[in-house]
Amino acid sequence: VGDMMSSTDLITLSRHLIYQQKKHTQATGDFTLLLTSICLGCKFVSSAVRKAGLANMTGLAGAQNVQGEDQKKLDVIADAVFVNSLRSCGRVASMVTEEQEEAIIVREAKSGAYTVVFDPLDGSSNIDCGVSIGTIFGIYKSDHPTFSEADALKPGREMVAAGYAMYGSSTSLVLSWGQGVNSYALDPALGEFILTHENLQLPPKASIYSINEGNYQSWNEATKEFVEGCKNPKDGSKPYSARYIGSMVADIHRTLLYGGIFMYPADKKSPDGKLRLLYECFPMAFLVEQAGGKATTGSKRILDIQPPNIHGRAPIYLGCKEDVEAIEALYKKHN
Ligand code: AHG
Ligand code: MN
Ligand code: MN
Ligand code: MN
Repeated sequence: VGDMMSSTDLITLSRHLIYQQKKHTQATGDFTLLLTSICLGCKFVSSAVRKAGLANMTGLAGAQNVQGEDQKKLDVIADAVFVNSLRSCGRVASMVTEEQEEAIIVREAKSGAYTVVFDPLDGSSNIDCGVSIGTIFGIYKSDHPTFSEADALKPGREMVAAGYAMYGSSTSLVLSWGQGVNSYALDPALGEFILTHENLQLPPKASIYSINEGNYQSWNEATKEFVEGCKNPKDGSKPYSARYIGSMVADIHRTLLYGGIFMYPADKKSPDGKLRLLYECFPMAFLVEQAGGKATTGSKRILDIQPPNIHGRAPIYLGCKEDVEAIEALYKKHN
């Protein structure tokens, strides 16, 4: 009966925000409105992902994005949904999306407005085989927006919030506005995100490593030695488990819930790493730090990087504090 009773008293995302708004000044009505637009995008994409196989939404769209990647149909649909929803909410001055070369400027926005950077669909290569994919976003606030790309070219530590949606066995929304990390699950019947995990915290160390090991040949010595140590611990402790999904959202979601370290180093193919600063590295580093973990390039805190351009990339190692510190130590050793 206890369970049945509590299910009539749901903490929806809006309820949680209103409650937080009373406690802190950070969550303003504008912020709540902005999040509502992001949630609409996530619900739309979630519903599109669920019917993709039935409604001819799998496969390629026939174009390439600025990164030279073949766009999938769902990449294009998700991009349009977020751009339209954010453009019309009146609180967004500019946007940067993986799928468009230039920043999108919304001149009608009122001042004191937000800049939203996003990866509308992360893990595109996993769409057609039904593996988890997601949406990643980061939010900056400018008191005096310049209505140019410059509003987005700020280090990740200046973000006021970040999060992702994961379209997995259920749809989860993981969000931080700088007061810890909370996770919500989409109730498909209600169309509401319901609080499921409050203040997620990473353990200091865990025993899962996550990296595309096919790139081994072209890794640096620090990465090779770290992964070697995961499989063959020098102190005789139990080896780590390997887990790699190939969707950053899903790999980070597992890391937040089960612990571990996720890595996408620079290699010969991608000398700056593969993952993009604004809409992949920064939001995920923000969440991991808020959960008590760390995020580094090996030698520099991810959130302190000044992005060189809106699609700039960086090598990244993030997750449990002590595992990330082990990588940092190896970078010093091999430098
Ligand atoms: P996207 O689908 O948004 O282009 O991102 C793909 C990224 C990320 O999701 C994942 O962690 C990484 O690419 C996987 O890369 P590899 O296939 O090289 O391992
Ligand atoms: Mn892509
Ligand atoms: Mn991505
Ligand atoms: Mn993407």
